[in-house]
Amino acid sequence: MMDLSFILNELGEERDNYFNAVSPPIIQSSNFSFNTVTEMRNAMLDEFDTNLYSRGQNPTLTILRKKLAALDGAEDALLFTSGIGAISVPLLTLLKTGDHIIAIENPYSWTAKLFNDFLPKFGITTTFINGCDFDNFEKAVQPQTRLIYLESPNSYSYELQDIKRVADFAKARGIMTMIDNSYSTALFQQPIAMGIDLVAQSATKYIGGHSDVVAGVLTGSTTLIKQIFEHEFMNLGPAISPNSAWLLLRGLRTLPLRLQRSFESTKIITEWLSKHPAVQQVIWPFSADFPQSALAHQQMLGCSGLFSFTLKDSTFAKIEQFCDQLSHILIAVSWGGYESLILPVIASVKKQQYDLDNKQHQLIRMYIGLEDPDYLIKDMQQAFDHIA
Ligand SMILES: Cc1ncc(COP(=O)(O)O)c(C=O)c1O
Repeated sequence: MMDLSFILNELGEERDNYFNAVSPPIIQSSNFSFNTVTEMRNAMLDEFDTNLYSRGQNPTLTILRKKLAALDGAEDALLFTSGIGAISVPLLTLLKTGDHIIAIENPYSWTAKLFNDFLPKFGITTTFINGCDFDNFEKAVQPQTRLIYLESPNSYSYELQDIKRVADFAKARGIMTMIDNSYSTALFQQPIAMGIDLVAQSATKYIGGHSDVVAGVLTGSTTLIKQIFEHEFMNLGPAISPNSAWLLLRGLRTLPLRLQRSFESTKIITEWLSKHPAVQQVIWPFSADFPQSALAHQQMLGCSGLFSFTLKDSTFAKIEQFCDQLSHILIAVSWGGYESLILPVIASVKKQQYDLDNKQHQLIRMYIGLEDPDYLIKDMQQAFDHIA
């Protein structure tokens, strides 16, 4: 891999093209002109690598595209208006009626809806499996299986898949593989090096890092990325704005620092929580008691600041009171920004549907941002005191 500092500070930046400005410009232009018709014709023949029209490529996006591809150790990258766009558009390109997908159970909620509601409209079916057990992949394969879809770890319950083993298995059968790597980012997990074909990420999370932009990124071989670009990408129109690309470039500069800080603080907070008398369980892949801890340490270089925990007294009212009582940690969706967040599963479960025996219902998801861990611990302690 290229030097990380080179990727983040220099790769793709051609400062003498823009007055030696240290910060790259936002090229807020929908179209680009040519000196001759011949030049234009050449551009139209190769829109993938030319600035012609910003629904395709744009110079501000190109800087970001090069950096994100290099970070993933991939040949190329494509940017989307959301993480879910970076998942749905490639699937629509690469699959056709009659094709079958094997996907891990409990992927990100809108990914699940894609498999359950959207793709069946085109005659594409999905078998969901528990990806912790490799045998389940073998059992689920059908002659029409075209894609294996992973999310390791997934959000809320953090189950892992043995990425290299699944990639090798798929390759031997000519099945494509795709992973949602939003949780780890390229810095903590390198799926391309493990043999995965396509890597999607919600750039809204750690890459943006400041809770001010929604975007997605897909990386893979030039052949696959170009195929997606030249067909469904240009037809469906999910290109991000130059302004969003610029925000992501700015976020990238500090990605290693932010990720490391979030990781270190999460170690402190998950340890504190796991010893807390009001807490039943903490679920985080780098916790010593995590069931797949060995695999986590084998294929991840670090762990994100997203984890879940449960209360010993897990009634609907107690969970709600605990979360409502927090005064610095915000009740909100998403994660990967500077601010710590809490999201209990009960936010999407009605009181009369709440099942005290359903472990999934009890989960409280937390994201640790960049605050001082002691500041967050104090906030949680006063909330625990309140519900005691
Ligand atoms: C794991 C995961 N994947 C994908 C997405 C979708 O990303 P976006 O919201 O940028 O579309 C999210 C968003 O919460 C997520 O948590």
